[in-house]
Amino acid sequence: MKITIKEIAKMAGVSTTTVSMIINNKAGNISQGTKDRVLNLMKEHNYVPNVMARSLVTKKTHTIGLVIPDITNPFFPEIARGVEDKANQEGYNVIYCNTDDRTIKEERYIEMLLEKMVDGIIFTASSKRIEGFKNPMNVKIPVILMDREIEFAGIKAKITGNNRLGAYEGVKHLFEYGYKRIVFISGPLVNKPSLDRFEGYKKALKEFQQQSILVLEGDYKIDWGYEAVKKLIARGEAFDGIFCGNDLIAVGVIKSLKEEGLRVPEDVGVVGFDDIYMARLLDPELTTVRQPNYEMGHRAAEMLIDVISGKEPDPKDMVFDTELIIRKSTKER
Ligand code: RIB
Repeated sequence: MKITIKEIAKMAGVSTTTVSMIINNKAGNISQGTKDRVLNLMKEHNYVPNVMARSLVTKKTHTIGLVIPDITNPFFPEIARGVEDKANQEGYNVIYCNTDDRTIKEERYIEMLLEKMVDGIIFTASSKRIEGFKNPMNVKIPVILMDREIEFAGIKAKITGNNRLGAYEGVKHLFEYGYKRIVFISGPLVNKPSLDRFEGYKKALKEFQQQSILVLEGDYKIDWGYEAVKKLIARGEAFDGIFCGNDLIAVGVIKSLKEEGLRVPEDVGVVGFDDIYMARLLDPELTTVRQPNYEMGHRAAEMLIDVISGKEPDPKDMVFDTELIIRKSTKER
């Protein structure tokens, strides 16, 4: 016969609420002695909390879903780390869902999360998603949109980096260092971050009188950066600066330029976007536009847990400042 929470509480000489708080890591003001006594009794009697039974009563699972599009891109694990630290600090677990940038997987994962009765979702849409979210099960739980803004029922807040200003500052930096003909090698120009970065690129071109807009659209992937440089060379395109839609594109760009005998930064200046951990390990170390990846994830979890607890997020839409990090892939001419 499975032992119940009531029997544990009786043996420990505490209330079932106290036992529940200890189970949910919410036992801030309970003495360590009491915590140890309850935990030892649970271990001694092989007590396993019946999470689903409790959830049916409280309608809370203390679990949030995190849907991200590309687990192989360090930008998203850095976001996830911030989400996880804040969630765990508040006694929540996190279910990670990687969609491989495929909208069909997004819908399947959202359905799974709803079936598992998560209390809320942090959602970064596929870079290829054009239409709003189909809302497969008439999503009723709070959703925080991270980084890529789309139409989604249940949205409670949006968190992004300042993509337009960040891109403008990255391209302006290339011009100020004496580079004259800047190419934008972009991610898919259907998602808001890419489009905003394109606007920032065009703003800098106008300010520094570069007549021709040189943009190549592709994926947020290393291979795309590599391939885009080959295209530029094959077309005989004249350029001496490349602004990359993200740092993974910049990794491919630098490798491809070197293969073509072009030196970075002497012949071509390269600027990335995100400042993932790899950026400072590249040769040359990458000049890039830093997004506060961890902080954005941490704040998203804080906002979602506030909403789950009944508070309205304030502000609803947060735009985090970016920061230009100058390293060795650009050099003053
Ligand atoms: O690196 C992936 C890109 O997609 C990041 O720049 C982030 O902003 C997301 O939009």
